[in-house]
Amino acid sequence: MTLAPVGACVFDAYGTLFDLGGIPRSVRVELGDRADTLMRVWRRRQLEISWLPLRPGAHADFWRVTDEALDFAMEAVGVDDRRLRLRLMEGWLTPAPYAEVAKTLGRLREMGYRTAILSNGSVRMIEGAVAAAGLGDRLDAVLSAEKVGRFKPDPLVYQAAATHFGLAPESVCFISANAWDVSGAAAFGFQVVWINRDDTPAEKLPLGTRATVANLAELPIILGR
Ligand code: LAC
Repeated sequence: MTLAPVGACVFDAYGTLFDLGGIPRSVRVELGDRADTLMRVWRRRQLEISWLPLRPGAHADFWRVTDEALDFAMEAVGVDDRRLRLRLMEGWLTPAPYAEVAKTLGRLREMGYRTAILSNGSVRMIEGAVAAAGLGDRLDAVLSAEKVGRFKPDPLVYQAAATHFGLAPESVCFISANAWDVSGAAAFGFQVVWINRDDTPAEKLPLGTRATVANLAELPIILGR
């Protein structure tokens, strides 16, 4: 399946460009199998909080949302260790990029596509992750939802990326591993590619994806030019 011509490729961050697997691995010695359960409960609660209606007058950034969600997850799996808690939170500042990310971003820019991250992550979280991964010279923009004061899938967040590049929504290719993000981006009007690295069953959301890939290295092929 190919896409209609686009001017920019915009990527979600966590689970799409950055592998969150290092976070539970950092506490596996202490927690054993509970590390994976904690991460699953934590990620789910983090996203659930981000989907809640805006708190009157106080938009909590994703760092605070992640911090609140961690309290819930640690209680859920019976962990009460401040050192581990600090290590878990810091893991969001330096998540490892997936192996093909740097080369794919470089290839897309060689092909003339502008590239960006559009993430719910706070400015500090996302800029830290990009710097730690050495991806700064392969991205034209690093866009945090914090600048909009809302979280994806609010259309105003997707609009920020289209506005940044001066493009109509259909002229942007948006790539995410998160089905809810894919669905929100497609509803906004982006041409959306779902990256499904682990061959997980489609979540049967009204996705509207133009293509599904297992590795970002497939993107230059389906984008063509
Ligand atoms: C992001 C998370 C939600 O990067 O994946 O926006």
